[in-house]
Amino acid sequence: MFSTRVSPKAGGLAFVGLLAVSVVVLLARTLSYHGFSVDYKKNVFSKDGKSFDYVSGSLHYFRVPHELWYDRLLKLRASGINVVSTYVPWNFHEPHPGQYNFEGDADLFKFMDIAQSLGLYVNIRPGPYICSEWDLGGIPYFVLGSKKDGVLLRTMDSRYLSHVECYFTELLPRLKPYLYENGGPIIMVQVENEYGSYKACDYDYMNYLANLMRKHLGENVVLYTADGWDMHHLICGPIHHSNVLTTVNFGPNSDHMSAFTRLRSFQGHGPLVNSEFYPGWLDHWGEPHQCKTSSFVGAEFDKMLKSSLGNVFVNFYMFFGGTNFAFYNGANMATDPKYQPDPTSYDYDAPLTECGDTTEKYYAIRKAIKQHRPHLIDNNLLAKVVNSTKQRYGKVKFKEVLSYPGIKSLATKHLEKGPVFTFEELEQDYGFILYEKTYNNYYHNVELEIPEPRDMVYVFADDKYVGKIYRSANEKILLPSFRKLALLVENMGRINYGNYLHDYKGLVGEVRLGEDVVSKGVDWSIWTLPLNNTHLAQYQEIKSKPGPGSILKGEFTIHGKPADTWVKMSKFSKGVIFINGRNIGRYWPVVGPQKNLYVPSVFLKTGVNELVMLELVQMPEPQELFVELVEYPDVGSCD
Ligand SMILES: *[C@@H]1O[C@H](CO)[C@@H](O)[C@H](O)[C@H]1NC(C)=O
Ligand SMILES: *[C@@H]1O[C@H](CO)[C@@H](O)[C@H](O)[C@H]1NC(C)=O
Repeated sequence: MFSTRVSPKAGGLAFVGLLAVSVVVLLARTLSYHGFSVDYKKNVFSKDGKSFDYVSGSLHYFRVPHELWYDRLLKLRASGINVVSTYVPWNFHEPHPGQYNFEGDADLFKFMDIAQSLGLYVNIRPGPYICSEWDLGGIPYFVLGSKKDGVLLRTMDSRYLSHVECYFTELLPRLKPYLYENGGPIIMVQVENEYGSYKACDYDYMNYLANLMRKHLGENVVLYTADGWDMHHLICGPIHHSNVLTTVNFGPNSDHMSAFTRLRSFQGHGPLVNSEFYPGWLDHWGEPHQCKTSSFVGAEFDKMLKSSLGNVFVNFYMFFGGTNFAFYNGANMATDPKYQPDPTSYDYDAPLTECGDTTEKYYAIRKAIKQHRPHLIDNNLLAKVVNSTKQRYGKVKFKEVLSYPGIKSLATKHLEKGPVFTFEELEQDYGFILYEKTYNNYYHNVELEIPEPRDMVYVFADDKYVGKIYRSANEKILLPSFRKLALLVENMGRINYGNYLHDYKGLVGEVRLGEDVVSKGVDWSIWTLPLNNTHLAQYQEIKSKPGPGSILKGEFTIHGKPADTWVKMSKFSKGVIFINGRNIGRYWPVVGPQKNLYVPSVFLKTGVNELVMLELVQMPEPQELFVELVEYPDVGSCD
C-alpha cells in the first residue's frame, strides 16, 4: 500500500488530473490483485499482494470416509492450522486404465469445498508418485506392467509418461478452477514427491512434470518440490532455475537451524518451508508402534515458530492419519533386505487419532500457534470440537462358513491350464491369487521352497492348509504325501518408497519341490481373488471346525444410531475383515503392533449388520469362533 499526494503546484492541472487517475487505477489494481505467489525478495508467500502466513497440516481425504471429512477438517482448523495438505493417489482415481473415479470417497473436490467453507487453504500434492505408505506410492498396477516390459517408473520412459499424461489430462483441468487465483482454495501444488531419494535422478522428468502442470494449471501456479534435507536428496529432488520452490522435510529429531541452513545453500532466497514435520511416525507389521511425545513435538514446533531465521512455514505430516482401508497399504524395504508392509491403521501417533479424537499433542500445537501466530486462531471453533462417539457391541459369533477351497467361487478370472502369471499380468490390482497344480502321482515328504514369494504364500496340500512362506523369511515347508498343491498368494502391499518400487506381485520367481522347479510348467490352474465380492459367497452353517483359507460370516444388531467401534480379533491370526460388504482392512494381531481394527460409525447401520472374515493361518476352536466389537482402539504400545 502507498499514498501519494499531488501538489497542484507541481504542474499543469491536466497533468495532475492524469496523474491522479493513474494513481487511482494503480491503487485499484493493487487492491484488487487476486492471486498467490512466492515473494523471493522478502522470503514469504504473498496473497493478494500481502504477506501470507500459514501453518499447515496433512489430512488425506482417501484415508477417512467422506461423511467424516467435515469433522476432521473442522478439528484441523480449530487447532489454528489454516492450510490442509493432501496427496492425490493416482490408483484411487484411476483404478483401471482409463476408468476415472472422482465420486464418494474419491470426490476430492467436495473435500476442498468443505475445506474452503471452513476458511482453510489447500496445498495439493498430486504426484504422480506420492509415497505415503500407499500401494506403489499411488501408481496404479497397470502402469507397472509386467516384469518382462521393464517399464522404468518415475523417469522419461515414454511408456510411463503416456500413462502420466492421460491421468494428468483428466485430473489437472479439474483442479484448475480450485486454484486460489480462480476463486478456489488451492495455494500451492507439489511436483512429484521426494524425488531426491529415488535412484533415477532424471532431471528431464522433473522438468517435464513441472511443464505439464503449468500447461494445465497456468503460468502463475505456485509449484514446489519436497525432499529430505540430506545433501544427496537435495541434489536430485529440486528443480533448479525454474521458479519451482525447493522445500525440505524433517521431523523434531532434526535441528531446524541446520536443516534450513542446508536448504539456503541450495536456494538462496524464498520462504523457508518444512513440508513434512513429523509429529508421529509410520508403523510396520511386526515392529513396535512408533510414537513421539507431545512435549517433544510441541517444544520443537515452538522453536520453529520463533526461529531467529524469521518466518518459517510448517506442515505437520500427519496432523490426522486415518486408515488404510481395503488393500491400499504400502510397504517399505529395509536394506537387509526385509519387506516391511504397513498395517491397516495409519494413526501415526498424530495430533488427531484414527477416529478423530483430540490428544494432548493437539492442544500443545494449538498453544504454540496461539502464542506465536495468534491471528491464525479462530476462537469460536474449539467449542465445536467433539470426540467420536464409541460403542461396545460385544461378541459377534460366526455361524456360517465358506470352507476352503470354496473361495474359488469368488474368483473374477479362472484360467484352466497354463503358466504361472503375476498379478500385473492378470490385470489384478490387489488381493489374492490361487495357483493350483495336480500331479498324476503322489509326492512324498518333499520340501517346498519359494525364494521370492510376493508376499505371503499360504500352502495347501490336497486342500489342507500346511503352512505359509513369507517374503524375506526364506522359510521352507516339508510337505506330507499329496497330489494337489495349491498356493494362495497374498499381495500385502506394493513397496512405496526407495529403490525397490518395481514390486510385481504373486509368484514372480521359482517354486521348487525338492530338486524340481515346478513353476516352469504350463499346467497351473489360476483363480484371481480381488475379494471385492464376498457378498456373493454361498455360506453354509458351521458344523465342524473350518480350516484356514475359509471365509466366516456372522451378524450383529445395532439399536439406535451407530457409533464408532473396533474389531478385537480374539483368537484369530491373520486375514481380512468385511463389514456390510466394505473391506475394512487386514488384521494380523499375532505380530502387531495393531490389534483392533477401526470401524467408523458410517460403515454401520441400525438393525442387522454383517461381518465377514477370511482367516488364513489359524482357525480357532469352535467355541472360540467369534470376534468382539469393543469401544477402544489398540494400535499397539509405543516402544
Ligand atoms: C477426547 O478424548 C481425549 C482422551 O480421553 C481427551 O484428552 C480430550 O480432551 C477429548 N477431547 C474432547 C474435545 O473432548
Ligand atoms: C472386482 O474386481 C474385478 C477385477 O478387478 C473387477 O472386474 C470388478 O468390476 C470388481 N467388482 C466390483 C463389485 O467392484
